[in-house]
This record gives sequence, C-alpha cells and structure tokens, in this order.
Amino acid sequence: MDSREKELLKKIGEQAVRQLWREAFGGKAHGSRHLYRVNRIAMYLWEREGGDEFLILATAWVHDVSLAQGDDSDPAKVEAFTMGFLRKFEALSEAESRMIAQCAGAHETGGEDLPLEARIVHDADVLDKSGMLGVVRHIWKMTHMLKGRVLYTEKDLDELRDHLTEREGKLFSKTARNLGKILNEPRKLFFGDRTFAVKTMTWISNLDQQGVICEKVAEMLLKKSSHPSLVLLKDQLSCDFLSSFNNQEGETPK
Ligand SMILES: [Fe+2]
Repeated sequence: MDSREKELLKKIGEQAVRQLWREAFGGKAHGSRHLYRVNRIAMYLWEREGGDEFLILATAWVHDVSLAQGDDSDPAKVEAFTMGFLRKFEALSEAESRMIAQCAGAHETGGEDLPLEARIVHDADVLDKSGMLGVVRHIWKMTHMLKGRVLYTEKDLDELRDHLTEREGKLFSKTARNLGKILNEPRKLFFGDRTFAVKTMTWISNLDQQGVICEKVAEMLLKKSSHPSLVLLKDQLSCDFLSSFNNQEGETPK
C-alpha cells in the first residue's frame, strides 16, 4: 500500500469506529471491538486468498456504518449509505468509493458474482459471527434490533441457531470455511445442551438490554461458566484463534 492509502485507511477506520460507537444501536454498542476483529480476520484472509489489500481493509472498516440508520439487511440501502459516508474522504477516488460501497452493501447477504474483495470482507464478518462469540453477538442483534425484546423461548433459540447456521453455510473462501469449521465445533455443544442454551441466551439477552456490550458479556460468561462450548471464546475475542490455526496448518505466521 502507498502512503495515500495508509493515511486514508487510518482516517476511514477512526471515523467508522466513531460512527459505530456513537450511532449504531442508539449508542449502546459504544466500545465494541467488532470492526477491529473484522480487520484482523480480513487481513488474514487477504494474505491467503489475495485481492486488493486497500479495498479489503477499507471495506472491513466501513461495512457496518449503515447500522447508524438502523436495519442493515437491504444491500442497496447499505451501499447508498456507505457511499454518503465515504464522500467526506476527499483523497478517495470516485471509483474506489463505488467499489468499497458495493463491497459493503454485500457484506450481509454475500453473492456468487461478487468481487473477491467483497467476498473476503463478507467471510471475515461471518467468522466474527461464528462460534460462541457469534452466539453472543447475534443475541445482541436480536435483542436490540430484530426482536426488540429479551429472548427467552425455545423458538428464539431455534431462530438464533438457524441464522448462524445459514450465514456459516455461505462462506466463500477455503481458508474461511476451514476456520469456520474449527470455531463452530464447540458451538454444537451449546445448541445440543438446550436447557443450558435457553438459560444462557436469556441471561445474555438481559445483559444486552441493560446495555452491556458483547465483549463484556463474553468475559462475564467465561467467568460464570466452564461449559465445554466456551473453549474458544477467549481466543475469538483476541483473534488468537488465527495464530492457533496457523500452527495447526504448519504455516509460519507472517
Ligand atoms: Fe459486521
């Protein structure tokens, strides 16, 4: 990357984090580390899958800016909102803005004919919604946005499991699919223990409604329980699962 791109990434990252903290979920996600993790994961995927590094990392920073307007399920609305957000960065060309906004628009839904850069950010976002961190994070989204209430029923649990399973089924790259498999193995133990799962989902959802951010909830869960499903949760928070995966594959970390 050249110095213009490095400088732009720094500014885009700062503004995107600020916007997510201030405006998404009515300001309740203040302190969230999601964008930092998606950047780490996207960088890891870029090293193995290729693509344009600058476009990938810029998209990783801005992929959730449209949460400031609420629901992020409509790709066209996400793309238009992201385009508006990018206009403030004068050093960014029109073509770069369009490409980043298009990639951001596709981050939730994915799609076969997308550019490699869009597929990588999509996969990085799905990986941060994988494993038990994904469970904690989607309970947050259901509590604050999709249901707008504390989750407590068996049906809520089924919806939670079905959404996570659906997203994981759409991973594009081989590296992401392998990582997803490792992260989601312990999650089966969570959904397989329904009594524990419903109780834990309600406990998490209650904390979410009180405005406790996902990272804090995950740390509290690790202190409260030694359920086997939680084995990788700490490594997901720090992204250390990436280096463990490196070692398993016999790779040398870059
Ligand atoms: Fe995201």
